[in-house]
Amino acid sequence: MTASLEQLRRCHFAVDLGAARTRVYVKGSGLVVDQPSVAAVNTRTGALIAVGEFAERMTGRTPHYIRVVRPVSGGTVVDIEMAQRMLRHLLGDKMRRSLRRKPRLRAAACTPHDSDPLAQRATIETLVGLGARRVELVDTLIAAAVGCGLPVERAEATMIMVCGAAATQVAVLSLGSIVTAERIPVGGEAVDHAIVQHLRQQHALTLPSQSVRPLQIALSGNGITSSGPTSTEIHGRDVATGLPRSVRIDTAAVRDAIQTPLTAVLDGIGKVLRECPPDLVADLADRGIMMVGGSALLPGLDQMLRQATGMPVHIAERPDVCAVRGLGEMLEGRIEPLVLDPLSA
Ligand SMILES: Nc1ncnc2c1ncn2[C@@H]1O[C@H](COP(=O)(O)OP(=O)(O)OP(=O)(O)O)[C@@H](O)[C@H]1O
Ligand SMILES: [Mg+2]
Repeated sequence: MTASLEQLRRCHFAVDLGAARTRVYVKGSGLVVDQPSVAAVNTRTGALIAVGEFAERMTGRTPHYIRVVRPVSGGTVVDIEMAQRMLRHLLGDKMRRSLRRKPRLRAAACTPHDSDPLAQRATIETLVGLGARRVELVDTLIAAAVGCGLPVERAEATMIMVCGAAATQVAVLSLGSIVTAERIPVGGEAVDHAIVQHLRQQHALTLPSQSVRPLQIALSGNGITSSGPTSTEIHGRDVATGLPRSVRIDTAAVRDAIQTPLTAVLDGIGKVLRECPPDLVADLADRGIMMVGGSALLPGLDQMLRQATGMPVHIAERPDVCAVRGLGEMLEGRIEPLVLDPLSA
């Protein structure tokens, strides 16, 4: 699916429309947008009230006529029109005007590995609505691998794990392309959901949607590894009475609750390794796994993987923006194409 480097070099901007965050790279200007993929709409007038951080802060706090929507779900654009309106606002007037001045505007976008044609079409339509005449699609796994500086073009295996909000994608790459890959529909959202469910069932406590992150941070003496603090105090609302209440929760129990979604991720890694040719697996034992994506920052996840696989595990620098940074590198022409022409006699 990945477009040629030649075509990508001609693109003017690149977009990573994620389930959690939207990122835009503009050629010559760098990363100009990194905001939550959220929009708040007035349902009476249809007007857009807020986008990005500000709209996300409104979640769960709006009067009935304001609706907070997420136009990207599960890694796919589900509401094309809203995604376009959100992107227009996130880009801002100045940036939009400068892009509109380009005679034949070209855009690049990354789409999840193995995304279906309908999902790809939705991404293309969104960017066409923004004025792009042509849209190049790049596999997220390739974009992320380039963005974190993995030597993808060499004849040795590298393993990458993109831990997003909606899904985790794992792949073994060699000679610039994907050897085996797996997309597991479990990501940061599933981990957050597991924590919320645990508190509801074990402590009859409803946790406000935005308090999951502080809880994860509280868990991190060493997070999901066993050396963190044994308990922490959190505030929420009693399920039965509706009144505010705080409880002391056992971090070990939360760790167990998170384990269920993470088991699916471990299964996925196992599957990729089993399908991988033995020569490449031998390379991987030395090089290990590179983690990128926002959920790579989940405290202790790297250590858990290290224990489960016995391989070295690294977290990329700024893991959350690796995919869009990779697209940026390709747009700027900093990536040398790999020539695999037949040898002439
Ligand atoms: N410091 C952190 N600790 C734990 N989780 C984090 C942290 N920072 C971000 N996350 C999680 O990372 C996820 C967002 O990651 P990312 O920005 O890669 O997602 P995305 O690209 O929008 O999603 P996708 O690629 O699945 O469409 C969220 O689920 C968020 O909860
Ligand atoms: Mg992503």
